[in-house]
Amino acid sequence: MLLDIQPGDEVFVPSFTFVSTANAFVLRGARPVFADIRPDTLNLDERLVEDLVTPRTRAVVPVHYAGVGCEMDALLEIAARRQLQIVEDAAHALFARYKGRYLGTFGTLGALSFHETKNIHCGEGGALILNDPRFIKRAEILRDKGTDRKRFFRGEVDKYTWVDIGSSYPPSDVLAAILLAQLEKRVEIYARRRAIWERYDQGLAEWARKNGVRTPVVPAHCEQSYHMYYLILPSLAARQRLIAHLLAAGILSVFHYTPLHTSAMGLHFGGQPGQCPVSEWTSDRLLRLPFYNHLEADDQASVIETILGFSC
Ligand SMILES: Cc1ncc(COP(=O)(O)O)c(C=O)c1O
Repeated sequence: MLLDIQPGDEVFVPSFTFVSTANAFVLRGARPVFADIRPDTLNLDERLVEDLVTPRTRAVVPVHYAGVGCEMDALLEIAARRQLQIVEDAAHALFARYKGRYLGTFGTLGALSFHETKNIHCGEGGALILNDPRFIKRAEILRDKGTDRKRFFRGEVDKYTWVDIGSSYPPSDVLAAILLAQLEKRVEIYARRRAIWERYDQGLAEWARKNGVRTPVVPAHCEQSYHMYYLILPSLAARQRLIAHLLAAGILSVFHYTPLHTSAMGLHFGGQPGQCPVSEWTSDRLLRLPFYNHLEADDQASVIETILGFSC
């Protein structure tokens, strides 16, 4: 709404992402154009973006997968030259950085998620980071049912009324309290998550090498958010066998994402099988290991032991 996206506008999203990335634009009538990901970080492949630009292209949405930064220098350069807006999906990336700067602060807008799967959460929720002060005035109105209530609270008007479109976007006080308590403990939460991530990475390195399994790639210029630990198995069959092997030991592991371009909605928007081969390949092979703030070292050790007992 802030970018005034119109029906028929085009917005680039990686195919390998959650539906929320595309829905925000689709709800304004935009057509998502699916771009493939880099094989290393699984982030939007910045080298493919320029060829997809048309006169209708309005925005590019880099998703910082697993809280590892997209190649923002290259994306910002293309966006400036082709007059596109960058809207970062930083759902995984709270407090992560690219070249020392926080993710979510590069684009015109950045979106955070506080869904229950995230490092810091309130069940359902999120936040929008406005990096251009010109949007603040209208954002206050859109989030408050299209009214100028914020101005009324500041004493700038003597009553508040309906002045624009909008909805009810603020979190309730109860959810905000739950979030605040976690933000106050963020150093502790992030230290725990870092320890969990590093235990997986060290404990599985040799097994992964021997079994042709790929572990996460974090470029030196990215400080990640320790949001998830994933494995990329050599084949779909091996991935499914490892899921079953873990489940037999009472351990839940999950895969994602189903590529957007081959989903029912993706096909409706012109997606074609084969269009984003790296997304399709990754979607068949990626596995997420149990990862939550209170995962205890003993439990994690038994997850690692169980994986070490599996061969691809
Ligand atoms: C890349 C990405 N974007 C957004 C979201 C979440 O969006 P929402 O908070 O709208 O559920 C998720 C996961 O939940 C995600 O993985």
